[in-house]
Amino acid sequence: MDERENKERGSTLKRARLLWGLLFGSKRFFVVSIAASFLVAACDMLLPQIIRATIDSIIGDKELEAPAILTSLIDRVGGLDALAQKIWLIAALIIAIGALQALFRYLTITNNTRGGEILLKSMRDRLFSHIQRLPYSWHMKNQTGDIIQRCTSDVDVIKNFVSEQLTSVFRITILIVFSLFCMFAMDLRLALIAALSVPVIVGCSAYFYSNMRKSFLACDENEGVLSTIAQENLTGVRVVRAFGREIFEKERFERQNKIYTDAWLKLCRLLTAFWSSGDLLSGLQVGLVFIFGTVFCVRGTLTEGELLAFISYSYILMWPVRRLGRMIAEMSKAGVSIDRIAYILDSEQEADKPGALCPDMRADIEFSQVTFAYEEGKEVFSEVSFKIPKGTVFGILGGTGSGKSTLVHLLCRLYDLPPENGKITIGGVDIADIKASWLRKNIGIVLQEPFLFSRTLGENVKIAASYCTDQQLEEAAVTACLDSTVRGFSQGWDTLVGERGVTLSGGQKQRAAIARMLMQNSPIMILDDSLSAVDTETDEKIRNALKKHFGDATVILISHRITTLMMADNIIVLDRGRIVESGNHSRLIEKNGIYKKIYDLQMKMEEAETNV
Ligand SMILES: Nc1ncnc2c1ncn2[C@@H]1O[C@H](COP(=O)(O)OP(=O)(O)OP(=O)(O)O)[C@@H](O)[C@H]1O
Ligand SMILES: [Mg+2]
Repeated sequence: MDERENKERGSTLKRARLLWGLLFGSKRFFVVSIAASFLVAACDMLLPQIIRATIDSIIGDKELEAPAILTSLIDRVGGLDALAQKIWLIAALIIAIGALQALFRYLTITNNTRGGEILLKSMRDRLFSHIQRLPYSWHMKNQTGDIIQRCTSDVDVIKNFVSEQLTSVFRITILIVFSLFCMFAMDLRLALIAALSVPVIVGCSAYFYSNMRKSFLACDENEGVLSTIAQENLTGVRVVRAFGREIFEKERFERQNKIYTDAWLKLCRLLTAFWSSGDLLSGLQVGLVFIFGTVFCVRGTLTEGELLAFISYSYILMWPVRRLGRMIAEMSKAGVSIDRIAYILDSEQEADKPGALCPDMRADIEFSQVTFAYEEGKEVFSEVSFKIPKGTVFGILGGTGSGKSTLVHLLCRLYDLPPENGKITIGGVDIADIKASWLRKNIGIVLQEPFLFSRTLGENVKIAASYCTDQQLEEAAVTACLDSTVRGFSQGWDTLVGERGVTLSGGQKQRAAIARMLMQNSPIMILDDSLSAVDTETDEKIRNALKKHFGDATVILISHRITTLMMADNIIVLDRGRIVESGNHSRLIEKNGIYKKIYDLQMKMEEAETNV
């Protein structure tokens, strides 16, 4: 965790830069909100001064210390004595200021809320669009639950920080500066007592800040793990039920839930200590001002109005100073969330080389000396070379984990082949120099584990074709033997397939994926063990239909079933990362090697099955 923490921890400048970028579109609302909150603070400052002047100079007889504009205004209504007779005018003034303050507060809140929601939306959009363009290998390395948590909880933390804390900075600053200024202007001794608490509370906050960051990070990390467990259990519910793993999974969840709760409790203890100490210090400050102020008042060195104004300012000062502490605490939380989001946004997106090409894909495919490892030192295959002439059907046979899927993933550039690890070319052009979008548009693939979106069957099949006619859809369905399935559904193509296609059988899902690939009409087609879940009869039917459909396309067939590969022009047999045999079906049978052995075994099994 420490290594990841260090990797993810950014500098304050980097965080500020990222935050500034994220504020695009919402800045103006926050600016209006800040300006309005400035005015709210100005009203806060004004009220104690009006009360002081009323008590000391209107009700009392102390000479009024006020700007010339105010004294001339008072003279117009007949001077201080007349004002004393019309004390309701002061009350009306206080109400008017209160009303103005309410208006400014309204502007502060509405603009803040609006800015916050815009910020939230733009952060989600930016993250989603960035994640969409991150390499497949990145997705394989990162857990879905954790990514989702970064895009939800962390985004919320940042939004709350900006809309609730950051915009308050200005109000807090103006309140602290103005309250202290007014206090110092009235009485130096009492102002010093009031000001004493400011550095203590801020220092106290800074101390807690350093401790809280780690706790916030621990909470976030643990929430990510908990989300991943929940998400895995929801997506893997069939496995959990089928293997009776409910109790194990429940205990696993509860264990993690406890770790997460404990992390929060630890953080809450820290926060409680932080808030309580802040309360104590603020209470002490107001108490001291009250005691000393009363003493000064009794001795006649402070007027009653000034005492009242001092107490008001002390209360006013208490809020921003406490808020400053809270802001520092929130800053630590937001810092963690910004770093967690930066981890996603800083991850390098898939990018084409400058001047990437869009060559003709109806060409020979060649793997030359290709070596690949997912993890260092664990080579899946080494120095594999073969050629697939254009327009031919190429079969790959091999045991589980022999690297068949990896070969085609490399061809689609789902994983990048390091330059020193050989070359994959199409028509002599290195696939690393081909535009990724062009490459994938021209390679139709039926993945080993087909994924269907929770949309209608028709939408799923049409996903790869920007435009298609009903006839094309029907043709693809007939070729993939999906037509009878569609007819069997009361809503036909409009049948919803449920999340990840759960309402379809494994074979139906595979056939839908084949139809989807056919709709793409690509010059290169890959079927990665795509007929494993259909019975041998349907397999044969699909194969025969596909043969007619392939036309001049180059086809790569991966299968464990030799009958599926028999029609291929050339077949390679992979074993522990090496090509051990190659040739067409009859040549491989003649060789009497692994291929022949597997063939005999499968034939015997088929015979046994038909005899049952
Ligand atoms: N994302 C990954 N990260 C790390 N290792 C992986 C990853 N995907 C596959 N592997 C490993 O690479 C090896 C080859 O996997 P691959 O999926 O290519 O095998 P395969 O021949 O397609 O097997 P199968 O017939 O079971 O589909 C296996 O040992 C597998 O454990
Ligand atoms: Mg595979």
